[in-house]
Amino acid sequence: MSQAYNRILVTAALPYANGPVHIGHLAGCYLPSDIYVRFQRARKQDVKFICGTDEHGVPIAIRAMKEGVSPQEVVDKYHKIIGDSFAGMGISFDIFSRTTTDVHRQTSQAFFRKLYDDGLFEERESEQYFDEEKQTFLADRYIVGTCPICSNENAYGDQCEKCGSTLSPEQLINPRSALSNAVPVKKKTKHWYFPLNKYEDFLKEWIVEGKKDEWKSNVYGQCKSWLDSGLQPRAMTRDSNWGVPVPVEGADGKVLYVWFDAPIGYISATKELLPQSWDDYWKKEDTKLVHFIGKDNIVFHCIIFPAMLKAHGGYILPENVPANEFLNIEGDKVSTSRNWAVWIDEYLKDFPDMQDTLRYVLCANAPETKDNDFTWKDFQTRHNSELVDIFGNFINRAMVLMHKLCDGKVPAYHEAEKTDLDINIIKDIQAAKQKIEQSIEHYKFRDALFEVIDIARKGNKYLQEVAPWTLAKTPELKAENQAKIDNCLHIALQLTANLAIFANPFLPFTTKKICSMLTVVDKMLEWENAGRMDLLRKGYPLRAPELLFRKIDDAEIEAQKEKLQANAKQSVILAPEAPAEPAAPELKPVIEFDDFAKVELRVGTILQAEKVKKADKLLQLEVDLGFEKRTIVSGIALHYQPEEVIGQQVVVVVNLAPRKMRGIESAGMILMGEDAEGKLVFISPKNIVNSGVEVK
Ligand code: MF3
Ligand code: ZN
Repeated sequence: MSQAYNRILVTAALPYANGPVHIGHLAGCYLPSDIYVRFQRARKQDVKFICGTDEHGVPIAIRAMKEGVSPQEVVDKYHKIIGDSFAGMGISFDIFSRTTTDVHRQTSQAFFRKLYDDGLFEERESEQYFDEEKQTFLADRYIVGTCPICSNENAYGDQCEKCGSTLSPEQLINPRSALSNAVPVKKKTKHWYFPLNKYEDFLKEWIVEGKKDEWKSNVYGQCKSWLDSGLQPRAMTRDSNWGVPVPVEGADGKVLYVWFDAPIGYISATKELLPQSWDDYWKKEDTKLVHFIGKDNIVFHCIIFPAMLKAHGGYILPENVPANEFLNIEGDKVSTSRNWAVWIDEYLKDFPDMQDTLRYVLCANAPETKDNDFTWKDFQTRHNSELVDIFGNFINRAMVLMHKLCDGKVPAYHEAEKTDLDINIIKDIQAAKQKIEQSIEHYKFRDALFEVIDIARKGNKYLQEVAPWTLAKTPELKAENQAKIDNCLHIALQLTANLAIFANPFLPFTTKKICSMLTVVDKMLEWENAGRMDLLRKGYPLRAPELLFRKIDDAEIEAQKEKLQANAKQSVILAPEAPAEPAAPELKPVIEFDDFAKVELRVGTILQAEKVKKADKLLQLEVDLGFEKRTIVSGIALHYQPEEVIGQQVVVVVNLAPRKMRGIESAGMILMGEDAEGKLVFISPKNIVNSGVEVK
């Protein structure tokens, strides 16, 4: 199965530059690729690691329009934020480029032009929805209307988020443009279609016959079902003013489809990195090309892009496309629009110097074969009981005992005193090397990481069994047992050095610290050194142990859970007229504390509720304050039926001067918030209200 390769080209999907990256991105694609690349570097392979931001496409153009800035400003902002997040997490790209560079424009245009000149494209006219007010064609997503199935008034032209139905814009009742609210009209337009159908046989042979045993079953399965259902020609151009202009006559106002130009971005970035030798990595058969992606990108990387490369000619095809499934958070799908996510830039602020913890947890929980769940509790448990108690603890014990029992130097190994325990642990270390490399080569990063922790666990067990501290209970005993003590710590220290090599692809920040404690240079980390028991020379003085990890306490975890909930929005409906950033509210003048102290707030429970006649907004409530009951008239009747509020706890302004409303005297006021749709809600942890909403 394995062929001899002389170089490896690793790409990680180019994230869209229209928002920051979250842990789902890391777990799905960037962390596994980084582990793979770091491992290959340690094996002294010629490997290049390519990434950058995907900066074209409709969502970016729309976002810019809504925010009233240029698309370039949007992508500049997020290119920086995303790049900083990756760098902060130690994702070690050789280049982090972008698809708005000149090199990329030229490269993708030349690619298109070659296919065009070869007469490959089919030109077709079709009718598409057009917004006359904004003078722009509308992607399905940007047409909003009433769902024919559930009557949700804010269904999208491709899907209703309320009932989940897949829709087409034609099915919407009262369709309107999400940009201007105008009624969209149909307009003729011409596009260039790539005849994917003509590559069906080639793809079947390459994937179905060629890759089924090598590719992950989720990847193979998706490809197979695409191929089985038959491929259709696909438009590779769009009507838009944001993107790479289509480089042919009569294509004004048209750009390359973002999924045409983005994967070519891998080539452009390689050119930028290696202007002289980039084509070795893309054209020589002894290059191993590996695309790391998330599962939503499979068809583009396994079907469309390979067909494009094949059609163009001269390019190699990917050897593998390891795609991960999705990572959920606390049991719910990550949603950027609902802000249900753990953002990397925020994590790095909240947990500076704990990059390896997140790397560890995301790798241990990577959604390699099925969707997986991230929870803060699990984050804490894995950190405290695996990284701290097993891995960190072993290294710390080895270092402390060596300083205490062996004068701060690497002790000698006395062959004559060799025991079965020694022989076994040495075998285990060598076996760990095999297992880790096998697993990484097969993209099984969780299994590989498990082996790393497991060998640290075995190290702890070994120390426990030899128990050098009991051998040194008294000075006399110590003198008598010194050879045994030396052997134990010699082995423990060689294992520590091996752990640095093993952990390096996964936990690069921690590895640095271990190397500094051991006073060794990076060269020791070369993979071929793994399994050796002479990494540290006898008599070599070592530094004092440094704390590798601190514990994470419950309060930190609670704070993160609260933050997640507090930032989440209940639901998001594309509201065309709403400004993207909320306008700052007009604030009332500052008051002194004494003024505030005049307000008396108390918790009450609603005992009874009824509608006020001839006032559709008002409910008459009876509220129990514990020491007395009050009648309060409240303007919540449009949002709640009387029976819904009975039993509800509320905050009451109890010393507000009584006021007559519709003939009823109201003795106080209850405080309410407002949710994303403007519904009045009780202020309680169950009702998540947007920050900044006025309590009234
Ligand atoms: N921007 C796409 C996404 O985030 C991925 C593009 S990968 C590339 O889903 F190959 F097109 F670059
Ligand atoms: Zn619906």
